[in-house]
Formats: sequence, structure tokens, C-alpha cells
Amino acid sequence: MADVVLKNVRKSFGKAHVIHGVDLAIKDGEFIVFVGPSGCGKSTLLRLIAGLEDISSGDLFIGNERVNDLAPAKRGIAMVFQSYALYPHMSVYDNMAFGLELAKSSKTTIDAKVREAARMLQIENLLDRKPRQLSGGQRQRVAIGRAIVRDPKVFLFDEPLSNLDAALRVQTRIEIAKLHNDTRATMIYVTHDQVEAMTLADRIVVLNGGRIEQVGTPLELYHRPANLFVAGFIGSPQMNFIACKVSHIGSDGVQVQLPNAGTITVPTSADGVRVGEAVTLGIRPDHVKASPQGTLTGRIELVEELGENHLLYVDVGQGQRLTIREPGDAHHEAGQQVSLSLAGESCHLFRESGEALPFLSEGRTPAPPSPDLSSRAA
Ligand SMILES: Nc1ncnc2c1ncn2[C@@H]1O[C@H](COP(=O)(O)OP(=O)(O)OP(=O)(O)O)[C@@H](O)[C@H]1O
Ligand SMILES: [Mg+2]
Repeated sequence: MADVVLKNVRKSFGKAHVIHGVDLAIKDGEFIVFVGPSGCGKSTLLRLIAGLEDISSGDLFIGNERVNDLAPAKRGIAMVFQSYALYPHMSVYDNMAFGLELAKSSKTTIDAKVREAARMLQIENLLDRKPRQLSGGQRQRVAIGRAIVRDPKVFLFDEPLSNLDAALRVQTRIEIAKLHNDTRATMIYVTHDQVEAMTLADRIVVLNGGRIEQVGTPLELYHRPANLFVAGFIGSPQMNFIACKVSHIGSDGVQVQLPNAGTITVPTSADGVRVGEAVTLGIRPDHVKASPQGTLTGRIELVEELGENHLLYVDVGQGQRLTIREPGDAHHEAGQQVSLSLAGESCHLFRESGEALPFLSEGRTPAPPSPDLSSRAA
């Protein structure tokens, strides 16, 4: 097991600067998830840690040793890719044993490790098969098994579940969580899936354009996004954003004037923002409620029925549209007018640069209900 520390790590491919000075300290045994839009550098960062790419500048430490120049095989790392990359002509057993044979482990050690990993992953009955005789989920388990037998200090996973169907994804996600509990190895995991990120991570790293936007626990990022980017990226459906102006600053927070509607006081400090300044108000779809005495009115453009809840897309004028999540037993139809209430405590404010205004009492427990992850789309 090992800490992984990146200090001002940069990576360029020729003239293309891809990673711009990443600082990150991953604790021994921590489960870290990298998320961010396609092309933001998640895989590149994993490959730098694995040693599959050279670091252009900066330092990488694994377990207190600077490993910039250490060969991948000596870093104590095992990587699992989206494409399983199994040897097609070898049996499952031989695929899992191969790395240990290269390392000249004894036959009895290899056998014990392969069988133990196969037991953990429930693939003991598949050991004699060839990869082509396996389903995608089974192949991915073999790839994970191949990583486990090497007893790595650090596991790296690059979207390991994205080729699997929804049910298998859930099952394999639970197996990876168990694997982490059993081994307490450091794990770094890349995914596009909100549920995987929220459920697996001790901490999530949000990347954007080769830079870190924010690092925090899943609930910190959900309830206290540091900026508009993180606010919009974490949570599905996305947080709603409304352009508005500061109308008053008081001891209870910052009051904003909503377009064509009333005002809302959000319990944040103004932090240098003045009356009249443009800010963005953010509120999650779960925290906007259809209610007779709402602050805003709009017209329902579309209702998406998901069973346990409904998503309403509401046009509130001036080209702004809000997404609202309502209970599945609520009755709404496209074309209806609705009145919407937005509680100030559930709102976020962002200055024009995108940075979040700090909440007045950081000690308070977050008012919003916990995120309903079960109904999130992948
Ligand atoms: N070998 C390479 N040569 C040149 N550019 C590269 C190379 N590898 C990656 N890049 C560029 O680096 C950037 C980051 O790529 P990377 O694969 O790390 O993104 P990612 O976050 O993993 O994206 P995705 O979510 O689509 O997998 C991209 O703009 C990509 O085109
Ligand atoms: Mg990638």
C-alpha cells in the first residue's frame, strides 16, 4: 500500500500541453475517482502515474519514493483498462498467472494467488476458458483478477465498467468496492458515471482542461461546489443556473433579484460583490418545488416520467429553463403554468468569474436532502 503524490506535474505531447501543473496528495488506502469532460486529461494522468507516459516536468512519488524515472513494472502498480486487453490464446488461468510467471514466482504461489483472486471475483468455474468464451463482464473480472494477483500497492482503473450493461455495471461496481474494503489498497479510478463516482470515491478529483477544479468528498462537491464548473458537472440532472443581479446585502446573506420575479436571499457572504453586480444563482432540480406560493412562474415544456420521480423542464422566461425533479405521484402536464418555490438555503451564488460565494455559517449541516443517486442516468 502506498501514498501517491503529484507535485506540479505537467505533460505535453509535442506542442500540445495536456496537463498543466497538477498537485495532488492521495493517501495510502484511499479510493480516488477522477472525473471531467472527455479530453480533460484523466487517462493521461493515470498513464503518467503508471509510467506508461513520461512526465514532462514535476515530481511523482509513490510510497515516498520519487518514481519519475522508475520503470512501470517496478512501481507496484496494476492498471485495468476499459478494453480488457486479455491474451486471446491463453486460458483465464494463464491470463491471470502470466504476470507472476514473468516475475518468476513459484508454481504453488501462482496457483494460490490465481485461485484466491478467482474466488474473490466468482470466476473459479471459468479458469479453463478462453477470453472469447466469456461475456464482457466476465472478461473484465479476469482483467481485474490479473491486477489482483500482482498484489499491487496501487490499482489504477480507466473506465473499467463502461463496456458493460447496466446490471453488470452495478454488480461489478459492488465487487470493486468490496475489493477495496478487502485489500485497502490505494485505488485511482476514472469514470464518466456519476453514480460510480459518488458511491465508490473517498474523494473525487474534478478535472477540466488538464487542471484540477476541486478535490473533495462526494458530498462536499455536491453541497459545496467551489465554482460553476464543479456545480454543473457533479449531479444529474445538472444544477440549474439563473442569471440575476444582487439587489441587497444584509447580515442574513446576499439578496438577488430574479428575472421577471421576486427576490431570494441566499445565506452567503458577499465577499466583495456589490449591489447591482451580476451573479449566477444555482439550484439543484431536487430543491425547486412546484408550489402555489412560488417565487417564479413558468410554463412546463416537457415532462419526463421516470417512475419514482418526474423531471419537468420549465420555461421561466428570458430564455431561461429550469429542470425540476418532482415525486412520481405528482401530476403535471406539458403546457401547464407552474409556480416554483426556491428556498434560499438550497441556493448557491457564483460571482461572474465562476467562483462560489462562501456560505455564512460553514458549520451548519447542509439543508438539502441527500442526493437521490438511484435514479441518475449514467
Ligand atoms: N499520445 C498523444 N499525443 C497527443 N495528444 C494526446 C496523446 N494522448 C492524449 N492526447 C491528448 O491529451 C488530451 C487528454 O487526453 P486523455 O486521453 O487524457 O483525456 P480523457 O480525459 O481520458 O478523455 P476521455 O474521457 O475521452 O477518455 C486530449 O486532448 C488528447 O487528444
Ligand atoms: Mg480517457
